[in-house]
Amino acid sequence: MRTFTVGGVKETVYERKDFPPAKLKQILGRETVAVIGYGVQGRGQSLNMRDNGVNVIVAVRKGPSYDLARKDGWKPGKTLFDNIGEAVRHATVIQYLLSDAGQKAQWAEVRDNLQPGAALYFSHGFSIVYREQTGVIPPKNVDVILVAPKGSGTTVRRLFLEGRGINSSFAVHQDFTGRARERAMALGIAVGSGYLFETTFENEVYSDLTGERGVLMGAIYGLMRAQYQLLRQKGHSPSEAFNETVEEATQSLYPLIGENGMDWMYANCSTTAQRGALDWYKKFEAASKPVFEELYDRVHTGKETAVVLDVNSRPDYRQGLEKELAAVRQDEIWQIGAIVRELRPERQGSARKGAAKAKPKAAGKRATKAKAKPKAKPATRKAKKKGGRR
Ligand SMILES: NC(=O)c1ccc[n+]([C@@H]2O[C@H](COP(=O)([O-])OP(=O)(O)OC[C@H]3O[C@@H](n4cnc5c(N)ncnc54)[C@H](OP(=O)(O)O)[C@@H]3O)[C@@H](O)[C@H]2O)c1
Repeated sequence: MRTFTVGGVKETVYERKDFPPAKLKQILGRETVAVIGYGVQGRGQSLNMRDNGVNVIVAVRKGPSYDLARKDGWKPGKTLFDNIGEAVRHATVIQYLLSDAGQKAQWAEVRDNLQPGAALYFSHGFSIVYREQTGVIPPKNVDVILVAPKGSGTTVRRLFLEGRGINSSFAVHQDFTGRARERAMALGIAVGSGYLFETTFENEVYSDLTGERGVLMGAIYGLMRAQYQLLRQKGHSPSEAFNETVEEATQSLYPLIGENGMDWMYANCSTTAQRGALDWYKKFEAASKPVFEELYDRVHTGKETAVVLDVNSRPDYRQGLEKELAAVRQDEIWQIGAIVRELRPERQGSARKGAAKAKPKAAGKRATKAKAKPKAKPATRKAKKKGGRR
C-alpha cells in the first residue's frame, strides 16, 4: 500500500504484496468465481485466477470463444459451461466479461440466476453507469464491484506470466455484504494486477471512453494521418513520411516516455528538437482542447455509448466493422508500415515467426497499448549508452 499526494490529490494504491497468497485464500477461498465470456479479458483474467489457486469456472456460448476455452484446459460440464444461467446460479462471484453490447443482450439470463450475497463484477463501468440504455440494474441483494485492467486482456496474461502486472482501477457500486471492497481488491490482485487504484464506476467509464477515443487510439491516429498526408503532399517518400510519423515514435521516443517520462525525453533530445517541441506542443494543445471538450461531453451525456450499443447490437455489425477495419489496413500509411516493420533486423529470421504469430492478437485498443511496452527496454538502454540523445 502506498500513499502519495500529487496536484493536491492524496491517493492510496494497493499492491500485490498487500495480498499475499494466504490473504487471497482467506478472502477468496470459499468463493466460486464464474467468468462469463471468454474474450480477451475473460481469458486473461480467468487463467490468471486459476494459476493463483482461485476456484474458477467459465461460461460462454458455443463458438470460437468456447473452443478456445477448451483448448486452454477448461473442462466441459466441470469448469466450462455453455449455459450462462447455470454458471451464474452456482457462483458466488460473477465476472461479467461479455462485450458491452453482449452484457445488455444477456442481462436477463444473469439477473434471473443471481444468488443473494453474490458479487457481480465488471471490468468497465459501461453497463451500470449507462443503465438507462443497457437495462443492467442489479438487484439490491448483491455486491456490485469493478476491476478494470488498464490494458489488453492479452497483456493481463502476458505480464502475469512474466511475473509483472498490469495496473487496474477498482470500485464499489453496491455493498450488500459489507465485503464488497475487500472482494474487489482481492479479485483485482488475483486477476493479475500489479497495483490497484480506486475509482468510481462513473469515473472509470468517462476516463476510459475519453482515453480510447482520444490519445490512446482516435486522436493519435488522427494526428498521425494528418502529418503523414501533409508530408506526402509536400513530396516526401512514403518511407520518409512513415519513419518521421510512426516508426521513430513507436520504436524510439514513446518507449522512452514509458520508461522515463516525457520530461526525461525532452531533456535528452537534441536542442533543435527541444526548441521545436517546446514551442509547438502548446499549439497542438490549444487546437485539440475543444475537441476533447466535445468528446468528454458526448461521453458524459451518453451519446457515445448510444452509438456503441446501436452499432454493435446490429446483426451484421461484424461485416460493417470488417469493412471499416479493411479501410484502415489499406490506408497508405499502414501499407508502408507493414513494409517498414518487415525490414526491422529483429524481424528477419527466427524472430519473424514470433512476430507473425503475435499479430492476430494485436487487435483493438488494448492491444495497441500493449504493443509498445516490450520495446521500451532496448530503446532506453540504447539511448542511455549514447548519452540519451535522439
Ligand atoms: N478488451 C480489453 O482489453 C478490455 C480492457 C479493460 C476492460 N474491458 C472490458 O471487459 C469486458 C469484456 O471485454 P472483452 O474485450 O474481453 O470482450 P470481447 O473480447 O469482445 O469478448 C466478448 C465475449 O463475449 C461473448 N459474447 C459477445 N456477445 C455475446 C452475446 N450477445 N451473447 C453471448 N456471448 C457474447 C463472446 O463470445 P463469441 O466469441 O462467441 O462471440 C466473447 O466470449 C468489457 O466490459 C470491456 O469493456 C476490456
